[in-house]
Amino acid sequence: MPDCFEILHKDLGGRIGKLVTPHGTIETPALMPVVNPHLKLITPPELADMGASIIITNSYIIHQDPELNARAREVGLHELLDFRGPIMTDSGAFQLSVYGDIEVLPLEILEFQYTIRSDICVPLDIPTPPDVSRERAESELKETERRLEEAAGNRGESLLAGPVQGSTHPDLREKAGRFVRDKGFDVCPVGGVVPLMEAYRFDDLVKVVTSSKRGLGSGLPVHLFGAGHPMVFALAAAMGCDLFDSAAYALYARQGRYLTSSGTWKLEEMKYLPCSCRVCQGRDPQDLLKSPDRVRLLAMHNLYVSLQEINLVKQRIREGSLWDLLEIRCRSHPRMLDGLRRLASESAWLERLDASSKSAFFYLSPESASRPEVVRYSSRLDRFSLKGEVLVTDDFSTDTEGFDQVMYFKPPFGPYPKELGETYPFNLETPKEHDCSALEKAMTNLQKLIAANPKARFSLKLRCIPR
Ligand code: GUN
Ligand code: ZN
Repeated sequence: MPDCFEILHKDLGGRIGKLVTPHGTIETPALMPVVNPHLKLITPPELADMGASIIITNSYIIHQDPELNARAREVGLHELLDFRGPIMTDSGAFQLSVYGDIEVLPLEILEFQYTIRSDICVPLDIPTPPDVSRERAESELKETERRLEEAAGNRGESLLAGPVQGSTHPDLREKAGRFVRDKGFDVCPVGGVVPLMEAYRFDDLVKVVTSSKRGLGSGLPVHLFGAGHPMVFALAAAMGCDLFDSAAYALYARQGRYLTSSGTWKLEEMKYLPCSCRVCQGRDPQDLLKSPDRVRLLAMHNLYVSLQEINLVKQRIREGSLWDLLEIRCRSHPRMLDGLRRLASESAWLERLDASSKSAFFYLSPESASRPEVVRYSSRLDRFSLKGEVLVTDDFSTDTEGFDQVMYFKPPFGPYPKELGETYPFNLETPKEHDCSALEKAMTNLQKLIAANPKARFSLKLRCIPR
């Protein structure tokens, strides 16, 4: 299905998009709650009521159960699960990675997904784990690509997903991304990342996703396989991931774990419920623990906070303030901060994807000095051509008499023309005291400007630089 994805708004690598499927159009970023066809902790109609626009299930589980298999063939997946919106089906590849072997051929499980009228079908890829040798990653990728090629030659009415593998080898990820883009897949899942997220290796996650994205380009909808914790949605969306699947809401509930957008608590260790969803309202942790419906209620809360975080990410993209949310979320855990720092080190790449006009720039932490706006300004400094007497000052009430040009100075940007002071991003808000990262960026830009304009004579009047 060509052109099934349209991008409406952008911020950093993130976007609000429209994905057209045979069972309707959804807005992305979207969270797909995982439905286990055997045990529906929350039923699909209830998921729809809670705000899920799309769900995901496992076609292999349905295929292997004779009753479900027969019924799915007869009435279709949507009637089987009682869900009217789009349904994505996974292929059993994850079972393959956990149990080592599955009893179905790649084309067989793909054809089955077409037959039961899944909206987004996934070929049987090989989820290569992190840290394996280059030889293994390469040979498994070769087999995944053979199966993808075979799938691309057997298309149905559904959207076809092309998983990107390649373990933790960035060049293989990029190559795999290019392959998926060139073969015309409709949805692009980044796979094999569950072990990274389970081990809180968010810097490696950022490496894997950004290298996959380099190969995929920016126009295709990207699914981050197995990303179900709301803590990672902002980071993943900022890299250009559009679809997430959550089994976490149910898995964590079974372990008595209460999700929040900044981490996880054990319900039995909580005294208060810091949430006002339908479950938490009027209850305390003891009420929840004592309820015979404990797991289901906890799963509902977990899903509410996850769906809420998706809406917050969307609002931030719409407003152009996703970076601010990243800085908050990535302070939930040191490993998340590692992830943000890794992304900041890719800010030249982000800069190329980022929309360039926004509402406000808040300098919130040293990571703000790596925002795409700062990288962009630094790369455009050579556009200034200055002559005569130039004043650079951070004292905006100072006497400017006798100067040909006045440049105001604000970290992390450094010098900028006085006339741009009210426009984005130079109308930024900073703390009264600047940190070293901001000062360093500003001074580097000042040096660059001076070196590029030998015909000008610079006078500096800077209060922010201690004498
Ligand atoms: N679920 C979690 N990871 C993966 C993956 O890499 N491939 C598929 N098909 N499903 C997954
Ligand atoms: Zn709640």
